[in-house]
Amino acid sequence: MQLTLTSCEVRSWRMGDAEALARHGNNRNIWLNLRDAFPHPYTPHDAREFINSLRHRAPETTFAIAVNGEAAGSVGFVLRHDVERVSAEIGYWLAEPFWGRGMATEALVAITRYAIATHHLTRVYALPFAWNTASCRVLEKAGYTLEARLRRSAIKNGVITDQLQYAFVVPETAAINAGDPPRRGSPD
Ligand SMILES: CC(C)(COP(=O)(O)OP(=O)(O)OC[C@H]1O[C@@H](n2cnc3c(N)ncnc32)[C@H](O)[C@@H]1OP(=O)(O)O)[C@@H](O)C(=O)NCCC(=O)NCCS
Repeated sequence: MQLTLTSCEVRSWRMGDAEALARHGNNRNIWLNLRDAFPHPYTPHDAREFINSLRHRAPETTFAIAVNGEAAGSVGFVLRHDVERVSAEIGYWLAEPFWGRGMATEALVAITRYAIATHHLTRVYALPFAWNTASCRVLEKAGYTLEARLRRSAIKNGVITDQLQYAFVVPETAAINAGDPPRRGSPD
């Protein structure tokens, strides 16, 4: 899979990305805002294991964010099951040198559209920690709406925290096609 965007590319992970993944992922400022499944420190071995584990996963739902050809972040979604099979939870991170250039927002818009179109979803949601103002801003810029504050729902780095629930909801009358930008509230 490959989505060529203005500032970056969202594409399948490759084994050759391991070195860049470990170098960029080994960052406490990133780890502090992600689930504990994201390693810290992030070693080359962790990077190889991660990329290798994706090879056997179908459908493909976790992708590299590449800048100038080099893996510089990750964006992925978890498809829910059973009666929630029209929903997916999305997550992402970007290498710190590239923060503040709109890349995460562009990647999030593209992958939201991809997830909805490919898996016939009605809803994609994210659960940033309440302190993560940058991620909340990214979600808002990508058309997600704040739905709820999940009080004292998580513990990170030994601190109990609220999580904020943001969702991109496809309106009842809309059908998002792979080529269309995801727009909230306007049927496509
Ligand atoms: C969150 C993250 C992906 C944002 O990436 P990015 O490419 O810098 O995001 P963008 O440039 O698209 O947008 C960032 C926005 O947040 C704003 N922002 C950044 N830090 C901020 C802060 N401390 N307070 C308020 N706004 C902030 C920026 O000004 C920008 O908004 P603007 O365009 O209105 O000026 C990146 O910081 C990251 O990887 N963080 C660690 C991992 C993480 O938090 N992942 C998300 C888990 S839910």
